[in-house]
This record gives sequence, C-alpha cells and structure tokens, in this order.
Amino acid sequence: MVYVPMSGTEPKKLFIKTWGCQMNVYDSHRMADILRPLGYAPSDTPEDADMVILNTCHIREKATDKVFSDLGRLRPLKEKKEKAGGKMLMAVAGCVAQAEGAFIMERAPYVDMVFGPQTYQTLPEMIVKATGERVINTDFPAESKFDSLPAEHGAQGSSAFLSIQEGCDKFCTFCVVPYTRGAEYSRPAVQILDEARRLVEGGALEITLLGQNVNAFHGAGPDGQIWGLGRLIREIDKNEGLERIRYTTSHPRDMDEDLIQTHALPKLMPFLHLPVQSGSDKILASMNRKHGRDLYLDIIERLRAVRPDIAFSSDFIVGFPGETEEDFEATMDLVRRVGFASAYSFKYSARPGTPAANMKGLVHDKIASERLARLQALIHAQQIDFNARSRGLSLPVLFDRPGKRPGQIQGRSPWNQSVYVQGPARLLHTIADVRIAEGFENSLTGDIEILEMSAGF
Ligand code: SAH
Ligand code: SF4
Ligand code: F3S
Repeated sequence: MVYVPMSGTEPKKLFIKTWGCQMNVYDSHRMADILRPLGYAPSDTPEDADMVILNTCHIREKATDKVFSDLGRLRPLKEKKEKAGGKMLMAVAGCVAQAEGAFIMERAPYVDMVFGPQTYQTLPEMIVKATGERVINTDFPAESKFDSLPAEHGAQGSSAFLSIQEGCDKFCTFCVVPYTRGAEYSRPAVQILDEARRLVEGGALEITLLGQNVNAFHGAGPDGQIWGLGRLIREIDKNEGLERIRYTTSHPRDMDEDLIQTHALPKLMPFLHLPVQSGSDKILASMNRKHGRDLYLDIIERLRAVRPDIAFSSDFIVGFPGETEEDFEATMDLVRRVGFASAYSFKYSARPGTPAANMKGLVHDKIASERLARLQALIHAQQIDFNARSRGLSLPVLFDRPGKRPGQIQGRSPWNQSVYVQGPARLLHTIADVRIAEGFENSLTGDIEILEMSAGF
C-alpha cells in the first residue's frame, strides 16, 4: 500500500520519545519511516506536534512511572493545540503499552492510541481510526511486522541498527521481555541481507545487529538451510564499504562454537555485551538463566583465544530473592576474574506477572543498595582502568556526531568507547585514526593523526 500525503498541506510534526533497549530505538526509527509517506516529519520537541509517540520500556518499575509523568506533562500541550482548533494525536507504544495497555487507556483518557511492539506496522490504519475513536492494539499478529514494514529506511547515518531477531523464549524468572515482545522470531536471512545492503548504500559504515536474544538467531537462509548468527555475520561481512559489525544483546547459552570462531573476522568489532546477571550458580539457577558461572567464564576464555583483543561488558542484577552475602561475593569474584570494559548493574525490581515476583527470600532494600554500590565501585574501577590503557594508542574512530563543545566531533572506538576530538565536521561519517591522549571513566580524548601529518607537509 502506498500512502500519498495530500498535496498543498503543511508537513505534520511528529515527536517520538524512546526509552529502553536498542530494539525500541530501532522501532522508533521504523515508526518514523512508516509515518513519513503520510506527511509526518520528525521534530525534536513535542510543542505543537500533530502526533506524539511515547515508545516505552517496562523492564524496571521506574520506567512506567516516567511514562505517566511524561503523559501528564504532555497533556496541557495537547489541550492547547485543541483549543486552537488543531489536533495532537497522543500514542503510547512499546513494552509498557503491551503490558499495561488497558490500564493506560483507563488512567489517561486523553491518550488516543495504545499499541505494542508487534503492531506498529498498522499505524496508518490506526491513525485513520483514531480520528473517530480511541484505539488499542496489543495483539501478537501471526504475520511478522517485518513483512510489512517499508523497505525504505530514513537516514540512519554512518552507524545503523538492523533488527534481525525479536522476542524471547528464555523466560528468566525476573524478566518481562518474553511477555511484552512475545515469542522468539528470527527474520529470514534474505530479508536481513537486503536491508543490510540498503543501509550500506545509504552510507552505513557500521551495522549493529539487534535482537533481545540476538545470538539465538536461526533464520531461513537462501540456500534452504537454517543460518545461525555466525553464518549471517560472515555474509554481511561481504558488503564492501561496510567497516564494522556488532551484535547485541546475547545470551551466554547461545554462544555457539561457530559464532565464537566468527569473532576472528576483522570487521566484527572486538567488543561483546554478554549479560551474566550473577556470579552465583544458585542464583543463576533460580533466575532460570540456563547457564552457570563456569560456562560463562569458559565462553570468555574461548572468545579471547580467537580474538585476543576482545573486551566485554555485561548486565548484573543484585538483590535477587535469596541472594546471600556469599552469592553476592561470587558475583564480585566473577567480575574480578573477567575484568570488564564496562557493565550495567541494577537492583532487582519485582515485575508483576513474572515468577520471581512471588519468590521468597526478599533482600532488604538497604542491603541491595549497599551491594549495588560495591559492585558499581568495582565495575567503575575496571572501566577507568580499561580506558586509561587506551592512552598513547592509535585507534580508528567512527565519527558519527558533533561533540558537545564547538569544533568538537564525537565517535566510537572499536571497543565502543566514546571518543571526543577537536576536528573538522567533514570527518563526520568517516573513520579516522586518533592518537588517544586521555582516558576517563566514560570517554576518551585525543588528536586526529592525519591532520597532524598534513600540518607537517
Ligand atoms: N536479553 C538480555 C537482557 C534484556 S533486559 C539478556 O538476556 O540478558 C536488560 C537487562 O535489564 C537485563 O540484562 C537485566 O540485567 C536487567 N533486568 C531485566 N529485568 C530486570 C528486573 N526485573 N530487575 C532488575 N533488572 C532487570
Ligand atoms: Fe529477559 Fe532472559 Fe530473555 Fe534476556 S534472555 S530477554 S533476560 S528472559
Ligand atoms: Fe524495555 Fe521492552 Fe526493550 S521492556 S528493554 S523496551 S524489550
């Protein structure tokens, strides 16, 4: 179906706010792609917008609170626009919409549309409907949304996301994702390869393959075989002009030998986010993670054998029900053994409807906070150490955005470190070598090497 905007009408303003994981970031891009042919142009502010979409995350409690407080702030803007004779369609999308759709409709009567991560491809129909009535669409349709999303991507720039897998069948006992995103689904390899080619033609130097459980990918290949992630990456690697490949988020259980060996490819960046959650076998079992600490440490070792310069990041949950001081120490020990380049850590948050929400052995909030602080102190120290070790090195940096200060540009090292340099805007969307001068906790600074050289000529 082709939607042609009415000629002679003003472009409509679209404001999308995104929380949560990169899948949500990807979905927001695709919503904008769907709405573009209807005349909607993205805007940085919600003021006077014709449509506002809050693309939400349900992973921890505070996320939902933030959505409701945002809705409260947006309401007067909508009323103002309507008093002036206009209309602001207000939509809640994403995982909170999926989990709490009916509750949102009830609690926020000024919300026009509620839809989940698997139904936003029907936005054009929903918009038509929403001009007359309020719309809720939180189905899990039999046909994948990927079959009806537009082939055309808006400019994603030099660093692009490509969603290859969605949903999750792992059912970790703390996690809402299997309920909000639905069952695991892998896109056919041909569809992915085609999208990768388009992204490269559109200027992508780096592609990050996305999925809630991206290394569980098992998509139908053009040869009639089922391809795993390793096979897919080796095929994407053949795109000339593509310089960097990443994938996220992985599950330790799905790190198969083929994927580990694929890490020898130079284009596959030497940085892997591999969430472990805990270092205690008892807690890992109670989380239903389907792996123990030894398997995790073994994977790290095997990856280092294939790619000696590889660095790791991870996710941790502290204060899971039943976590004793000894269990927590096992987590600290695992962190010391691996030595992470960075990591995220969270206090356990009970999510309604998940098995862990009914578990006994609640950890007192004060103890959980205290453990979180200890874990974060250790991780921060490792992060600072990792970044400090970049000092003096020459690193290829993919510059993808202007820096915060005038004359500054910002990019990423192969290890996903943010790098800031003083440099000309013409280097944006290119990869240039940078001599690293300083390593801080969250970033590196340095000088572009080629400029120094040309200054000498
Ligand atoms: N698919 C990924 C992670 C998805 S959620 C994986 O398998 O690891 C991102 C992170 O949020 C998780 O890794 C976990 O550390 C954290 N998280 C998920 N549910 C949580 C909860 N109920 N409380 C605290 N942190 C949680
Ligand atoms: Fe959630 Fe576990 Fe699935 Fe990750 S693997 S999305 S933590 S259920
Ligand atoms: Fe959040 Fe949904 Fe992603 S709950 S982390 S936006 S899958």
